[in-house]
Amino acid sequence: MDHTTLPELPRGPLHALLREMPKAELHIHIEGSLEPELIFALAQRNGVALAYPSVEALRAAYAFSDLQSFLDIYYAGASVLLQEADFFDMAWAYFGRAKADNVVHAELFFDPQTHTDRGVPMAHVIHGLQRACARARSELGISASLILCFLRHLSEAAAFETLEAALPYRDSYIGVGLDSSEQGHPPEKFARVYARSRELGLHVVAHAGEEGPPAYIRAALDLLKVERIDHGVRCLEDPALVRRLAAERVPLTVCPLSNVKLCVFKTMAEHNLPALLDAGLCALVNSDDPAYFGGYMNDNFIATFDALPQLGAAQAYRLAANSFEAAFAPAADKARWRAALDARFALDGLSFS
Ligand code: ADE
Ligand code: ZN
Repeated sequence: MDHTTLPELPRGPLHALLREMPKAELHIHIEGSLEPELIFALAQRNGVALAYPSVEALRAAYAFSDLQSFLDIYYAGASVLLQEADFFDMAWAYFGRAKADNVVHAELFFDPQTHTDRGVPMAHVIHGLQRACARARSELGISASLILCFLRHLSEAAAFETLEAALPYRDSYIGVGLDSSEQGHPPEKFARVYARSRELGLHVVAHAGEEGPPAYIRAALDLLKVERIDHGVRCLEDPALVRRLAAERVPLTVCPLSNVKLCVFKTMAEHNLPALLDAGLCALVNSDDPAYFGGYMNDNFIATFDALPQLGAAQAYRLAANSFEAAFAPAADKARWRAALDARFALDGLSFS
């Protein structure tokens, strides 16, 4: 069917489609899913003192001017995570939200250095998260895996130590990523640790072009040899780079609510997601740090589609299909998810496959 000739769905049915369509989430920092209520509950359970007197006071502090202003609060929130059960509880709470949003596959970033630097054993972190992933698979039918992120404001040596410390748990995660403060910490700082990670058979992704320039996206591709770019929204400043990303079908894990909360775009109406799709890029929607940025997957879809009238059913289909294409998952699973996507669109008489 030629979708350009289709009348657009009214908002109500479009919202239902966005909510109900199966989708994959490939850019979620699991520490960024810690809701204030859980932060307070874990602080009490572990006897950790917090700088805020109440859940409301903590939530009220979630007004950010840039990435760093968020990261300062995010790392403070993660200080309540000490025991294996804390990591399990955090991830299990996320999977409940993911299920409600019809997420069928999730790849969870975690930041081991945020915990091991406070004396938390790597085993507590990985075992707790791994147990939640296993339960998500068996009880919720969600395909789930972990991606270990290096903090880019720390040294290359610290990243190597982290990779080494995580090696005994090699089967518990499928890849490595790069996050934290982007400006001033270009990808090349981690070229050797990425080379080692690739030798180990790990998938490789990196945050680039969130606050940093298009040159960081190029460096992530050329020097880290990443398979996906996390964020990448600043690529549009470099038309040759856009052509390359489109030709190589490098996925961009875009996080719309995050971008507005961290002032990458002033308003959602100014977000460049429609332009990324129009350029033929493999862009997809993700929540990044949903407890801090105002919502999970479906909140991101609805806020984005509500603010950008250029986005309709065809773009919803493309974003979900892109999320499956970009996933680190077996081809048979991707085919099954794509068939389920087609079936949901067929309920509205739509076919974009
Ligand atoms: N860590 C958690 N969220 C992040 C983001 N949006 N960018 C970089 N590092 C992060
Ligand atoms: Zn991120």
